[in-house]
Amino acid sequence: MIKRFSFSIHGKDGAARTGVVHTARGDIRTPAFMPVGTAATVKAMMPESVRATGADILLGNTYHLMLRPGAERMARLGGLHAFMNWDRPILTDSGGFQVMSLTSLRKLTEKGVEFRSHVDGSKHMLSPERSMEIQRLLGSDIVMCFDECPALPADRTRIEESMQLSMRWAERSKEAFGDRPGHALFGIQQGGLEQDLRGESAATLQKIGFDGYAIGGLAVGEGQEAMFGVLDYAPGQLPQDKPRYLMGVGKPDDIVGAVQRGVDMFDCVLPSRSGRTGQALTRRGAINIKNARHAEDPRPLDPDCTCPACTNYSRAYLHHVFKAQEIISSMLLTWHNLHYYQELMAGLRGAIAAGALDAFVAEFHAQRAAGDF
Ligand code: GUN
Ligand code: ZN
Repeated sequence: MIKRFSFSIHGKDGAARTGVVHTARGDIRTPAFMPVGTAATVKAMMPESVRATGADILLGNTYHLMLRPGAERMARLGGLHAFMNWDRPILTDSGGFQVMSLTSLRKLTEKGVEFRSHVDGSKHMLSPERSMEIQRLLGSDIVMCFDECPALPADRTRIEESMQLSMRWAERSKEAFGDRPGHALFGIQQGGLEQDLRGESAATLQKIGFDGYAIGGLAVGEGQEAMFGVLDYAPGQLPQDKPRYLMGVGKPDDIVGAVQRGVDMFDCVLPSRSGRTGQALTRRGAINIKNARHAEDPRPLDPDCTCPACTNYSRAYLHHVFKAQEIISSMLLTWHNLHYYQELMAGLRGAIAAGALDAFVAEFHAQRAAGDF
């Protein structure tokens, strides 16, 4: 018997919740951070190392994997989990957002979007139906609806028409997804910064019915204040008893503010990408390991961090391997950053369960204000 997808909430503090998303491939503790494994790898990390940081689930991308190695090839090779050696849950984004941000020369119609590959210029098409098929071939556990996300700022007419297109695509996504026990389909709310459009989008999605609900169309240039403005009402427009996922967010303080407002799941390239560019994210804020002041510093990055970078290496070493462009630099900083993010999520979960989120958040901001160690 395949285990059914479900969500149980174990504690609440204000609008924040902590709980567990149950999937056929294992549990996801929420609030959850999903490291990004776009091209069937979390760059610079072995999957067992990603797990060691505390991740319960990874994110993969329809867009990148359909182009390379290809969805049908992936299916012949046993699916994404076997291919990349990660047997826990995987959520896949549906491709539309990546087409819009990574390709030029694309044609958007009611049917879907035609585009040229950023890899080799070859022509491709994505639609709700094809995106559902690709995500099935990949073996994704949490499938995202095919949507469109306009860059902000955009005028209201553009936001409204785009949202309504995404809602028609959500209906087609649900129809094409069909009945797949053990697999979940999430709807994606759009509507920019317009409360009524967000409300209309949420109502349409709930009428269609999904296993979880994402808040899309944020972190696209509007800034934190505007994003929090939307998050003051958007989670409340979505069902209480289903997971809520804020797509593509974010910096540590974005995540903390979004958890306070009722978001359960997150993904962002920031910890992995900034690890490769020499930026360490710590509870005292960002530390740029390139900086010459670290060249002879025998101390660890964070004296209390239990990750391999902090346990076994000095700032001087991390500075040196970054400057020398050694591969271990990306490995160690990515590990540290993902470890920090997972510790932050564990801290948030514990604080919500204890009814002490306000104190946790105050301490979070106080430590950042104190600056580097
Ligand atoms: N990633 C970040 N934002 C979005 C969004 O609005 N839609 C999708 N599909 N992916 C995203
Ligand atoms: Zn560390």
